[in-house]
Amino acid sequence: MRLSVIGCGYLGAVHAAAMASIGHEVVGIDVDERKITSLSKGDAPFFEPGLQEILTEGISSGRLSFTTDMSAAQGAKVHFIGVGTPQQAGGYAADLTYVNAAVDGLLPYLSEGDLVAGKSTVPVGTAANLAGRVAETGATLVWNPEFLREGWAVQDTVDPDRLVAGVPSEDGHPTTEGERCADVLREVYHTAIAKDTPFIVTDYATAELVKVSANAFLATKISFINAMAEIAEVTGADVTTLADAIGHDARIGRKFLGAGIGFGGGCLPKDIRAFSARAEELGKGESVAFLREVDAINLRRRDRAVDLAVTALGGTVYNKNVTVLGAAFKPHSDDIRDSPALDVAVRLHGLGAKVTVTDPAAIENARRIHPQLDYVEDRDQALTGADAVIVVTEWDEWRRDLDPAHAATLVTGKIVIDGRNCLDATAWRSAGFEYHGMGRP
Ligand code: UDX
Repeated sequence: MRLSVIGCGYLGAVHAAAMASIGHEVVGIDVDERKITSLSKGDAPFFEPGLQEILTEGISSGRLSFTTDMSAAQGAKVHFIGVGTPQQAGGYAADLTYVNAAVDGLLPYLSEGDLVAGKSTVPVGTAANLAGRVAETGATLVWNPEFLREGWAVQDTVDPDRLVAGVPSEDGHPTTEGERCADVLREVYHTAIAKDTPFIVTDYATAELVKVSANAFLATKISFINAMAEIAEVTGADVTTLADAIGHDARIGRKFLGAGIGFGGGCLPKDIRAFSARAEELGKGESVAFLREVDAINLRRRDRAVDLAVTALGGTVYNKNVTVLGAAFKPHSDDIRDSPALDVAVRLHGLGAKVTVTDPAAIENARRIHPQLDYVEDRDQALTGADAVIVVTEWDEWRRDLDPAHAATLVTGKIVIDGRNCLDATAWRSAGFEYHGMGRP
């Protein structure tokens, strides 16, 4: 099938390449010339495992191309909208400028029977607002939210755990046109459908809410365990053991109960804020008032990590060499948007510490935004001479591959703060380190 993908960021570029990899003919469109030049050459403009391979393969097969020219969308049967919906400057609500611009830009190139499939995370009600504009061209709008995790984006796109299609509906049931749209999407995702991936057909509002509520739930789960970490800190309990123990309850589950410096990235923080803002607009602010608390708990954990470093270094970090292991908001990504890791590094620098940051993928991005910090590519070089080490992103390079006995030969002060509770505390203590976890004795 011929497809177009408008917006070639973390979501759109992966979607375009993944759709080509399952046999579709895809054109990716973006206003950013630099991104398009890079993608056209088969170079992934950001770090995402597996993306490089499917990009190269798609381009050499002739099924995948990229352009800044919106008219290239003409002739595609489904047009995916994968542009960003950032937090508004000066507010919590989502900024829909790019979604509106993408849809308006696309309108002249739509044909009778085309589908415009929104994938961006949007406030509930957005699809209903856009549907009329699309319908005037003879095309139909559907909402097909994306649940990909960065670092696993290719796998999550090709082999998702569920597919959701918000289609035109009446009285809670898809209209005839809605059924047709669902069938077209089944054809798009034919490989996942063949594997019996759950395919949920619903109305616009439900589809939009599935996405924001999934992210709200995940954020709440992380803040829940971080709240328990705060209680553990004043009672001498160990939040990691607690998470293991409650995680054995199948109704709770162990995933997303990793206590530490909390969540960040381009989705969870802004999505829960946008959800709160939208609920307020709908007169239902109190229904998701807990999300404010989820946000507040999350941000407090960054303070806690900084406090641990200050206390461990004797009350001040001024002029101390602090090595920060990590910059990306999570491992297997070079994304530093709202990264708790970098926030901790910047705060320590603000308190006068001599901060050295290392990260296997995110140094270039971090340097661009925070040039005041020192960046070192080599992990061992970064550790050399440290008065304290703080782990803020749980990359395998230190979680798994760093022998604490080796680290002990490099550092000046044997203090380690495990902001992700990802190190083997016993091994680090045996190597002579003073180990501080988050919510652990
Ligand atoms: C998230 C959702 O998982 C995904 O479904 C949605 O499409 C986009 O938002 P992503 O932002 O890639 O994906 O990251 P995710 O793996 O969810 O992690 C988010 C943040 O939570 C990271 O900063 C991570 O370090 C943190 N986290 C995760 C924890 O602090 N503890 C955990 O137990 C799990």
